[in-house]
Amino acid sequence: MGHDEGDGEGARIAGVDEVPADDSFLFTVRETDGGDEKEAILVELSDGSIAGWLNYCMHWTDVTLDSGDGAVRNGELVCRKHAATFEPDSGVCTHGPCEGAELDPIRVEVRDGAVYLVDPGYEFVQQGVDTDPVDLSTSPGSRVGF
Ligand code: FES
Repeated sequence: MGHDEGDGEGARIAGVDEVPADDSFLFTVRETDGGDEKEAILVELSDGSIAGWLNYCMHWTDVTLDSGDGAVRNGELVCRKHAATFEPDSGVCTHGPCEGAELDPIRVEVRDGAVYLVDPGYEFVQQGVDTDPVDLSTSPGSRVGF
């Protein structure tokens, strides 16, 4: 992907139109340092700007906020595991077991009707997430037993 020219350019994540007005938009990034893939979300804020966050709860950090069907409920990001709520603009947990903790931010920029990833810590991988579960029927040898 040849969109990492720097100078605040960044890689295009999605058109602004693709970010739902009242829900989250799921995408995948890769850590520049270490190369791990991470799930991330875009959220449109009440002033029309767009915020980016890693898609993981601050309580149990392997739990995703958006599991493919959106994370926004009544204007807040909600973890369905134990019902923590996070402000979509600040990322602060306002209620729940991780109250006061903050989501990991991803810097994004809106330009010419599109949202760009401008965070030096992350590279854009794809829209959505790789949801292919390990399919036992087509992955011979990947599991023993049964
Ligand atoms: S894992 Fe999110 S609130 Fe517990």
